[in-house]
Amino acid sequence: MNTGRGIPEEVIEAVLRQHDIVDTVSKHVHLTKQGKYMKGLCPFHSEKTPSFTVTPDRQIFHCYGCGKGGNAIKFRMELEGLTFPEAVRLMADEAHIPYEAGTGGSAGDSPRNLELEQQLQAHEWTAKLYHFLLKNTEYGKSAMDYLKSRGFSEKAIDTFQIGYAPARWDTLVQFLEKRSFNLDVMEKGGLLSSKQDGSGYVDRFRDRVMFPLHNRSGKVIAFAGRVLGEGQPKYLNSSESKLFSKSRTLYNLHMAKGEIRKSRQFVLFEGYGDVISAWEAGVHNGVATMGTALTESHAAMMRGLADEVIVCYDGDQAGQAAALKSIPILEDAGFQVRIAMLSEGLDPDDFIRKYGAERFHRKILDGAVSSVKFKLIYLRKNHILLEEDGKVAYIKDAMEVIAPLSSPTEREIYLKELSAELQVSFESLKQECNEKRQSMQKNNYAGDNKGKRWNNGRHKTGQASMPELLPAYHVAERRLLAFMLQDDEVARYVGDSLGDQFNLEDHAAIAAYLYAYYAQGKPPDASRFIASLQDERLEQSVIGIAMMELPAEWSTQELDDCIREVKKVPQMKQIRRKKEEMVSAEKAGDFLRAAQIASEIIALERQ
Ligand code: UTP
Ligand code: MN
Repeated sequence: MNTGRGIPEEVIEAVLRQHDIVDTVSKHVHLTKQGKYMKGLCPFHSEKTPSFTVTPDRQIFHCYGCGKGGNAIKFRMELEGLTFPEAVRLMADEAHIPYEAGTGGSAGDSPRNLELEQQLQAHEWTAKLYHFLLKNTEYGKSAMDYLKSRGFSEKAIDTFQIGYAPARWDTLVQFLEKRSFNLDVMEKGGLLSSKQDGSGYVDRFRDRVMFPLHNRSGKVIAFAGRVLGEGQPKYLNSSESKLFSKSRTLYNLHMAKGEIRKSRQFVLFEGYGDVISAWEAGVHNGVATMGTALTESHAAMMRGLADEVIVCYDGDQAGQAAALKSIPILEDAGFQVRIAMLSEGLDPDDFIRKYGAERFHRKILDGAVSSVKFKLIYLRKNHILLEEDGKVAYIKDAMEVIAPLSSPTEREIYLKELSAELQVSFESLKQECNEKRQSMQKNNYAGDNKGKRWNNGRHKTGQASMPELLPAYHVAERRLLAFMLQDDEVARYVGDSLGDQFNLEDHAAIAAYLYAYYAQGKPPDASRFIASLQDERLEQSVIGIAMMELPAEWSTQELDDCIREVKKVPQMKQIRRKKEEMVSAEKAGDFLRAAQIASEIIALERQ
């Protein structure tokens, strides 16, 4: 069976068998035994008392502090910033488990994988070729001169594997042909372009400085080619392909991820040159988007690695506008966001070359301002503060930013700054702010969770404190699922009497997956079950459930109690509906109907 993630399930299971959760975790975390658990300091958030647990008999980890949890594969994904397939592949390699589908894989899979494999290989060869041509041949001389004139060091050229694509139509075509690559496949992969008359292929990149773009495990998946000097387009990127998606790729992530994980912070740049200059200035947690706006996928990719972002975009109008747009995307993903302010319209690359590394660290990175502060500065530029009208208009804009802040201290700080800056009394600003808040609350009342935001991933409430807040049926559902995870007999029992009639959608989904899992004859095994799910939210939910304390033995009595609690909910809803109907019937003077409904209610209540 295939998991839908393109990896045969046998491989995933073999990986989980070979990588014991305790062995996997203890390589990075010092664990001490505590009854059924092992405990240690969480590697995913900073803490002084251990809230990170590993449960050997369930083969899962869970942190009560930050809420992260999962099986051994998930642990490696989080720790090393890998995708699911990358982690499985790496762990399969480590345990010498043959990765290729073999007889198990469906016939449709392999040719496609083969094509991807060839494209990856070709990209690696091509990066080497371009780098060689730049460094060692007469072809590369003008490009080398250009790079030198811009201040690129020899070391940077090597570290970033910068290269040169000569001003000819067939350098790469010939190179790839000689190595027996299928040129159709190469065109699909973005290295070649087809000739207009369809008679063959030409190189996509000609007479450009070449920056290889890597995926997060360090494989070359695309290129960006820059013209030497002036010209359009300044950068030509590989086209989107199975291999390369701009909205999911960050430049330099493969080299930066170690430092990002360590510091829990990354610096987000706009340009390749910025990342490279910053790297040379000692900033090893810098990445950049590929000339596209930051996307939610980008933010989600980074979430496991870091808690804080410094957005370090160009100092010109376009750069600042892009920085403003990035704030909600990053904050919604749970990051703490700061913005670095570059003056004189410089970009980070220019700044470092002009003022040096030390000043870049001290003035630009250390001096990065909070997102609120940045918004205020940004808004201020639209107003002429010397005029009263301008002041009033600016205050109005500023309130839109300050009033929604949930911390009174924070509001006060910004209001004080504003008061000093505009020479307007603090009291009147405060009053204005309170009025704004009141009108906001009114508007929000009918709304959903619009204002609700995990303003900071670190403050996310863990699972530990949840149960007390939950209604009885919610607890009952979790308890049932917890027993079901441990024992297939319980699953059968619950399946017969409740099926998927859980009130919470996620619980119903988990139950349905669990029935299907056991139906395939698999043993109770939380870690394996999690691996069969394809949904991050469900995974997290299952982890929380699997961590519940349960009595050693279940009894049908206890299961029945839970089931009753669960079944009560739709009945209660029905009763509530009937009562409303009864009241409106009474109001309408239809007493016969009201009496009829009343007896229905009594019957329901008896049940
Ligand atoms: P910039 O125009 O700021 O380029 O665009 P830069 O990085 O400072 O380039 P240098 O220093 O002049 O060489 C920022 C980013 O936007 C993308 C690239 O990723 C670039 O690094 N871009 C820009 C393109 O993809 N295509 C373009 O034509 C221009
Ligand atoms: Mn720039």
